[in-house]
Amino acid sequence: MYDFDTPVNREGTKAYKLELREKYFGSNEVLPLWVADMDFSAPPAVCEAIQARAAHNIYGYTIRTKEFNEAIKNWLMRRHNWSVENSWIEYSPGVVPALTFSIMSFTMPGDGVIIQTPVYPPFYSVVKDNDRKVVKNPLVQENGSYRMNFEELEILTAKPENKVLILCNPHNPLGRVWTKDELETLGDICHRNNVLVLSDEIHSDLMLFGNKHTPFASVNEQMANNSITFMAPSKTFNIAGFNTSYVVASNSRLLNGYRQVLNKLHLNMGHVFSEVILETAYNEGEDWLGELISYLEANARFVVDFINENMPEVKVKLPHATFLTWLDFRSWGWSQKDLVAFLVNKAGVGLNDGVSFGVEGEGFMRMNIASPRSVIKKALEQIFNARKELN
Ligand SMILES: Cc1ncc(COP(=O)(O)O)c(C=O)c1O
Repeated sequence: MYDFDTPVNREGTKAYKLELREKYFGSNEVLPLWVADMDFSAPPAVCEAIQARAAHNIYGYTIRTKEFNEAIKNWLMRRHNWSVENSWIEYSPGVVPALTFSIMSFTMPGDGVIIQTPVYPPFYSVVKDNDRKVVKNPLVQENGSYRMNFEELEILTAKPENKVLILCNPHNPLGRVWTKDELETLGDICHRNNVLVLSDEIHSDLMLFGNKHTPFASVNEQMANNSITFMAPSKTFNIAGFNTSYVVASNSRLLNGYRQVLNKLHLNMGHVFSEVILETAYNEGEDWLGELISYLEANARFVVDFINENMPEVKVKLPHATFLTWLDFRSWGWSQKDLVAFLVNKAGVGLNDGVSFGVEGEGFMRMNIASPRSVIKKALEQIFNARKELN
């Protein structure tokens, strides 16, 4: 019913992904498969609701009603079998800002914040920019898959200066879905050592190949009590430019701690479209999401098949979730600088540098596959042809 195949021209929309190519790649020509938004139109129902609201020409201060929380509550129940109460939910003007407010509220300058690397770059900056210390608990790669290092996590969480862990559930850039057992083990270690878990679940609706998302706080009472969950319709429905997201915490001390900073900074108002987009997306976007997921699965298969057939020395696995793939170029034996220069200057593709996620990303690149298949095909062919020319 929905068209993901026809390219949509984003020129003239001031899209970050397009406009900042010159700055990041030194060229406006590269195919933009980097920033984590999608090259697909948002669900028609969402576009219509925005246009209907925009048709009224007064854009004054706007409240959120209880329907905002209702839509979230119903969504979490339907999609993730997670029963939450309206009073556990609070608005946030973006997931990264909400992580920042939580770091500000629950830690002091100099405290340690544990992150599991390689990981989404703002996990570093929300810590460093607030004068806290990044404490790395790198993920361990085994046979092309990644697992958590719980032995090391025990040691890190036992240090009293380490107060918080930011979890990426599911994981960006690895596309890894954490199992209930893994989350339980992590939750137990953090609880025993008094380390608060901030669970970033922004990609949780984009489960591929029948994988199931487990909200960290849904596993048991203890984990619910020791965590804040960060969610949004932004990745799911390609509406990230509206900066509308939310946090969930059943522990009122934690929710109030978050709220204190949100209110102190006077960022609790939201904007004129916050409620319209979230409610419409959650209440009317499910058919569209179903088709999107099928399309992303086919794109992921296409990438893996193309690489296995044409460049089998490059390693890639089907992601469990997200519209991101993690390409392992280490067998080429190049420096990261040479790899990036080749992809930009010879292949003409703009991917995310693996090292931007941490030193563990050396030899890797992240490719966003939320584009029409023809674009993904073109990018892969450009890489393949440029590589062939070097031989
Ligand atoms: C794990 C993760 N968290 C947060 C964000 C961004 O969230 P927001 O735009 O709501 O700040 C992204 C975007 O790529 C992400 O991958």
